[in-house]
Amino acid sequence: MNLVSMKEILDDANRENYAVGGFNINNMEFLQGIIKAAEEVNSPLILQTSEGAIRYIGMDYVVGMVEAATKNTSIPIALHLDHGGSFEKTMECIRNGYSSVMIDGSKKPFAENMVLTQKVVEAAHSVGVSVEAELGKLGGSEDDITVDEREATFTDPEEAVEFVEKTGVDALAIAIGTAHGVYKGKPELDFDRLEEINNKIDIPIVLHGASGVPGEDVRKAVTMGINKVNVNTDFQQAFTAKVKELFAEKPDLYDPRKYCGPGREAIKERVKEKIDILGSKNKA
Ligand code: G3H
Ligand code: ZN
Repeated sequence: MNLVSMKEILDDANRENYAVGGFNINNMEFLQGIIKAAEEVNSPLILQTSEGAIRYIGMDYVVGMVEAATKNTSIPIALHLDHGGSFEKTMECIRNGYSSVMIDGSKKPFAENMVLTQKVVEAAHSVGVSVEAELGKLGGSEDDITVDEREATFTDPEEAVEFVEKTGVDALAIAIGTAHGVYKGKPELDFDRLEEINNKIDIPIVLHGASGVPGEDVRKAVTMGINKVNVNTDFQQAFTAKVKELFAEKPDLYDPRKYCGPGREAIKERVKEKIDILGSKNKA
């Protein structure tokens, strides 16, 4: 596959103070809509699949589709495992050609998260694959991961320093008030905590659960040191809203191309809006 590592993409972003989208794909229309948008505005791109998306699409299809989509592309693209739950899953993705993996040990105690992350980093780095890990616990729900709001915990800046030093991880996802999925109230981001963490660690920092966060807050987070912004729900909603709109107009529609095509177009437009906020336009 014509892929680059996530580290290569994010180190540039870190140096020049912008962020790159970690955009989730759920099917072929997501993949095509997202890639088309990034190509049209000349932005680097991190395509990511959750374990649930891999189960739904099938590993061979993910790899085959991404291979086809990246064959003639002119922008740097990484294929990344989002929220990998085990050492085995990260290795399976690497064997299948992913250029980057996330190992999410955030539900484990600090020491266990560190040991697991170290193990993935050692194996992934030996074959040139980059690694994202997570410290702190985001609330909300995404595929296999559900964290009750009462159990959500913000990232401790001191722990972040030790974690980054000891694991050698390439990017760190932090918890500063965002949540996965649809927000119940207005998200309140802890920008002071972000500033403190950014002052203490040098590697790219990742913001998960960015769907539903006002654009100006995401922009502020980017100017304060976030270099990767994960979005899934916003694109799912864009696709589904378009399909619902079409069925409301024409309840007799039956050709999937007539509603999945416009859904794909809606994703593309939403991706472009996100890229504008992240500042990665013309950075390819
Ligand atoms: O890892 C993926 C994300 O954090 C996406 O979260 O669906 O709330 O945008 P979201
Ligand atoms: Zn996430």
